[in-house]
Amino acid sequence: MISVRLHPDKHSAAQAIAREIADLIRLRSESGKATVLGLATGSTPLPLYAELVRLSREEGLSFRSVVTFNLDEYAGLSADHPQSYRTFMEENLFRHLDIPAANIHIPDGLTDDAARECGAYEASIRAAGGIDLQVLGIGRTGHIGFNEPPSSADCRTRRVHLDEVTRQDNSVVFGDLAQVPRGALTMGVATILEARRVALLAFGAAKAGIVARAVKEAPSADCPATWLQRHPDCVFHLDAAAAQSL
Ligand code: F6R
Repeated sequence: MISVRLHPDKHSAAQAIAREIADLIRLRSESGKATVLGLATGSTPLPLYAELVRLSREEGLSFRSVVTFNLDEYAGLSADHPQSYRTFMEENLFRHLDIPAANIHIPDGLTDDAARECGAYEASIRAAGGIDLQVLGIGRTGHIGFNEPPSSADCRTRRVHLDEVTRQDNSVVFGDLAQVPRGALTMGVATILEARRVALLAFGAAKAGIVARAVKEAPSADCPATWLQRHPDCVFHLDAAAAQSL
């Protein structure tokens, strides 16, 4: 089931979700347990990551007991490529926290055996005890992770082709459409649905149409985010502009 939570703006949303994550980390670490977070890249979670960094600096929130799994990585980009999701995460989150390097997981975009890499990624998530809280954005195509339409509810971590709409959207960061990779390695829809809690973030009018489809359309491969309706604990954190078509 998807519940919708409206926030005055993306910064208030970031504060609320960061607080939820901080509570989860503190609660679990009190009983000696790790907290497993699923993380997204893109512009949407940036205020959330800034707030987590602030909580770490100003409130002493420790990430030593946190294990992370990112949703995806571009195929063909090395970890140290300026536009890799590994670089994005290092710059915007990891290098500012006390999270142990061994606890960070992002698919290897340079793998020469995607099936093996993706199978190992699924196994690592299982070995960590599954994802406690998955952070998601949503693409204009209805993708979650890089599960572009059509993506069935039972798809797993795998190599995928990016939709041209997604390549166009992401070309802003690359400066030139030709530089945007055509493929990626992404957690599957089934992998995402196994997270115990899901927090999807969407802000701004450009996301209103796809947010309304995700919430209101019958679940189908044509709009992969609709599969979230089958999740028992999924919250869409929206501002008024993103919620305007609901
Ligand atoms: C990123 C990811 C994508 C993005 C989506 C929205 O790791 O998996 O699904 O969340 O493309 O991107 P932004 O936030 O840039 O609009």
